[in-house]
Amino acid sequence: MDYLEIHGPTSLSGEVKISGAKNAALPIIALTLLAKNSVKISNMPDVVDIKTLLKLLENLGATTSFDQNYVEIDTCCLTNTKATYDIVKTMRASILVLGPLLSRFGHCEVSLPGGCAIGSRPIDLHLKALEQMGATINIHAGYVQATAPDGLVGANIVFDKITVTGTANIVMAAALARGVTTIKNAAREPEVVQICEIINASGVKIEGIGTGELTIQGNDRELINIEPFSVIPDRIEAGTYLCAAAITNSSIKLTNVRADHLDSVLGKLREMGIETSSDETTIDIKAADFINPVKIITQEYPAFPTDMQAQFLALASLADGTSTIEERLFENRFMHVSELQRLGADISLNGHVANIKGSNELFGADVMATDLRASSALVLAALAAKGVTNVHRIYHLDRGYEKLEEKLVKLGAKIKRLSE
Ligand code: UD1
Repeated sequence: MDYLEIHGPTSLSGEVKISGAKNAALPIIALTLLAKNSVKISNMPDVVDIKTLLKLLENLGATTSFDQNYVEIDTCCLTNTKATYDIVKTMRASILVLGPLLSRFGHCEVSLPGGCAIGSRPIDLHLKALEQMGATINIHAGYVQATAPDGLVGANIVFDKITVTGTANIVMAAALARGVTTIKNAAREPEVVQICEIINASGVKIEGIGTGELTIQGNDRELINIEPFSVIPDRIEAGTYLCAAAITNSSIKLTNVRADHLDSVLGKLREMGIETSSDETTIDIKAADFINPVKIITQEYPAFPTDMQAQFLALASLADGTSTIEERLFENRFMHVSELQRLGADISLNGHVANIKGSNELFGADVMATDLRASSALVLAALAAKGVTNVHRIYHLDRGYEKLEEKLVKLGAKIKRLSE
């Protein structure tokens, strides 16, 4: 198993190019199940989660090619509609094939994704919405068995809770349904917006894109033609590099980024005394003499993203004062706290709230990555910590960060990937 050996403290400088968004690319790959043509996609992040979903599609009979962040996927000749446990268990987002497969074929089987490190993460809202659209759902032997022999029909859906993959799944299902579907309390994340825009540009009209209420004019199982397009930049990867600069008191430039997707993150950095400036595709972040404490509550977009919580927790541990971070989306998303404490961070947990007493120094230690974003928080803390930090179990990082250590080394970090 690989681990990262990180020498700190370090100072970063130069430019880093942000990759395509993993969380946009995953539903986009699932969306190709609705296409009658071979779909060409650029700016595809080269990360393990993407390879996993491509493998899932290949198992269904799709042909895929991946070369230098460019992917081509042809789902014309699928041979089966079963997403098996061996792949789904490694990545929850596999559930994204449920809506497209069901709407195209009228039946499918998808393994239940199960729990994960950050909480139970049910899919009840996906299933309830599909039932409203006429599907019969059975849970049998660990699989969701869904049927709708005459196709799905448009429905009026109100999500009890805002769900990102739930919204993407139902939008894709609705695209091939018969009649109009409305989704209230829909997710507004830029990744959901991109899925809607691609479907809309393919001739299935969607109104309300980017709002909490979507109306989709289903086209009754006629496959769509998807023109070539590029995956939006990864706002979470971008936010992570901004935190890397902030925690090391460095000035760097991010390229291939959308600052307008990062308003809440840039706002919190500003409150912490860290200045940024941006144009359409770049963000410059400036070194700050000290870091102000901050109060953060994670919520759905456009509020502060839960996927940036761990990184800001690392940053707050070097602030001049006490910060509070409240996690409102996932019940168990503070696994990084005990690992950050090993580096000397002074954090106390009270239910969903972390109180972080900032200090001047962190110290290198052995730490264990527990999930994707928690892992990146450990890397950030290690960049600022005095001495050597070994971050173990970095396979989590490889799931979602493209060439993380290569990019950081280019910025001046002292990181080596080693084998245990
Ligand atoms: C997506 C992101 C993930 C991010 C999360 C929240 C992808 C691939 N993953 O995950 O990185 O952290 O959004 O921004 O895009 N819920 C239910 N029932 C459901 C579905 C969700 O109760 O059927 C709950 C969840 O347990 C959670 C909340 O709703 O508390 C939000 O979850 P959701 O938006 O669905 O997260 P994901 O789409 O899985």
